[in-house]
Amino acid sequence: MSTICAVTQSSSALLLDPRHLRGPVIRDIRKSVELLDLRSCVLSGLSQPRKAIPSLLLWDEQGLENFNEWTRCPHYYPKSKEIEILETCNDKIAAAMPHKSSIVELGCGNLHKTSVILSALAKQKKEVHYYALDVSQSALLNNLQALQEEFKCFPKISISGLLGTYDDCVDWISNNDATLHALPVTFLWVGNSVANLSKSEASNLMAGFRQACSVARIDCRFLVSADACADEGKLTKAYNPESGSSRTFLRHGLNHVNRLFNTDLFDGATWNCTVEYDREENEVLAFYFPVIDVTFPIDDTGSVTVHQGEHIFFFRSGKWNQEQMGTVARQSGFQVSRVWRDLDEEYGFYFLTP
Ligand SMILES: C[S@@+](CC[C@H](N)C(=O)[O-])C[C@H]1O[C@@H](n2cnc3c(N)ncnc32)[C@H](O)[C@@H]1O
Repeated sequence: MSTICAVTQSSSALLLDPRHLRGPVIRDIRKSVELLDLRSCVLSGLSQPRKAIPSLLLWDEQGLENFNEWTRCPHYYPKSKEIEILETCNDKIAAAMPHKSSIVELGCGNLHKTSVILSALAKQKKEVHYYALDVSQSALLNNLQALQEEFKCFPKISISGLLGTYDDCVDWISNNDATLHALPVTFLWVGNSVANLSKSEASNLMAGFRQACSVARIDCRFLVSADACADEGKLTKAYNPESGSSRTFLRHGLNHVNRLFNTDLFDGATWNCTVEYDREENEVLAFYFPVIDVTFPIDDTGSVTVHQGEHIFFFRSGKWNQEQMGTVARQSGFQVSRVWRDLDEEYGFYFLTP
């Protein structure tokens, strides 16, 4: 049984004492329990000339289940690429980590890859305070306990969770240096999640983490995995919006909007989903569009109309090559110091240091 504890933003005081409770402690570090106030983000996104809604809509409990199902589909190549790299290079990756450190995993999901990395660190007798961050409470509640169980015989490895967004985590670090044990921290960001942001959003966020660590007077680095697949045939099969588990994952944002607004305006018959590949930026971009005009009330007086065929952007999966990853890193004050790749050089784990 895991325990969720709230922490104040100005100190790391736990409101519940975890020593009396079993299972990993999960700190609630959210500034807004409404998670970024998704409703107002949706409304403001629909009111822009180029309409967009937050990709966070994909990541509720059902969304995470959909994602896990998608990663089991044979066309979803990124997972096997990551596993290949981790299986062949885990000892080298662990060797690059400090002897004593904290790891904060950004968007931990089902923690499958975490276990490989922590095992390699345990084998090298490294001391690690591991924090799993996710917006999804169910990701933390369902998966963290099993990880703690797996490492219960390794006293040098401690495991806990952080419930919140990436931005909440930046604030938490600036305000809670004591919680991170004043040890160097590695931000583990796998599953190509970095490239769910635009390149400038990713470098701004990484710069935000660097700045927060500097305020907390701790050294930091990133271990980021990024997909560099440029094979359009493969991408088309993996990100198929028309059928299979990719379709279910991609269309889930529509269900979430319906739920948020207690409406059925975003129903499956009226809305379609399409995916485009931006060859210049190396990014897969996904959009919703209605097959008829849809008018959506935005407050007591106003409304917004999404016209037939008009695109609403909701999801990006960048396929950044090493040069692009290097630029993102440089713009946030880091440099690529090591890269571990799969045999086909389609996927990479990048170790980014200041
Ligand atoms: C692509 S999945 C990757 C999961 C896992 N790291 C893996 O490699 O399988 C993205 C994960 O990040 C979480 N996530 C998405 N946006 C987030 C945000 N802004 N803040 C915190 N977590 C986020 C999702 O809930 C999900 O678990």
